[in-house]
Amino acid sequence: MLPSLSPFTFRAVGPEAAGSMTVLHEECFPRYWDRDSFTDFFSVSGTYAVLADHPDSPEHPAGMFVYRVTHEQADIITLAVRPAFRRTGLARAMLRSGLEHCGALGAEAMLLEVEVGNTAAIGLYEQFGFVQIHRRRLYYQQRDGTYNDAFVMRRKLSVS
Ligand SMILES: CC(C)(COP(=O)(O)OP(=O)(O)OC[C@H]1O[C@@H](n2cnc3c(N)ncnc32)[C@H](O)[C@@H]1OP(=O)(O)O)[C@@H](O)C(=O)NCCC(=O)NCCS
Repeated sequence: MLPSLSPFTFRAVGPEAAGSMTVLHEECFPRYWDRDSFTDFFSVSGTYAVLADHPDSPEHPAGMFVYRVTHEQADIITLAVRPAFRRTGLARAMLRSGLEHCGALGAEAMLLEVEVGNTAAIGLYEQFGFVQIHRRRLYYQQRDGTYNDAFVMRRKLSVS
């Protein structure tokens, strides 16, 4: 159950792709995770990752989506698209297929944290029907060492 969006190609990956994911994460977030963090995610069962490749960038993937399903709950670990490939529908394609995958695995809801003020990501999640259910104070550390709040957002996956 991989996304489909020309001219991107998609592959399901595991810890062997931790290096690529680290490079991508560093390009997309002010505080990035190291290679060990990405490797460790996969030590928890139910963790899935998809990388998007673009013909113009054979060395470095254009985007990634990492998520986890634990019983009835799915969590977004990270979703990122390199700046050169944004606003082409890539995040939407990866999120859509991830939501379908999690629903097929039996998850009833998906949750995520997103930094307050991240209008791009919040716009994307709202487009998919995610709603804010909580605000975590001082959750994200900035480059300058200060902290910013996060919204916790949730979306049901199954219709009861
Ligand atoms: C958020 C992010 C993943 C969006 O990726 P993308 O591939 O550019 O998004 P898409 O092209 O699929 O856009 C889908 C929708 O998201 C919203 N969106 C995306 N970028 C936006 C922007 N710059 N401003 C406002 N809304 C935006 C829009 O609703 C858009 O739909 P539209 O194009 O029909 O208006 C990307 O900006 C990114 O990697 N940001 C840095 C990392 C990050 O913040 N990740 C999310 C962590 S929770």
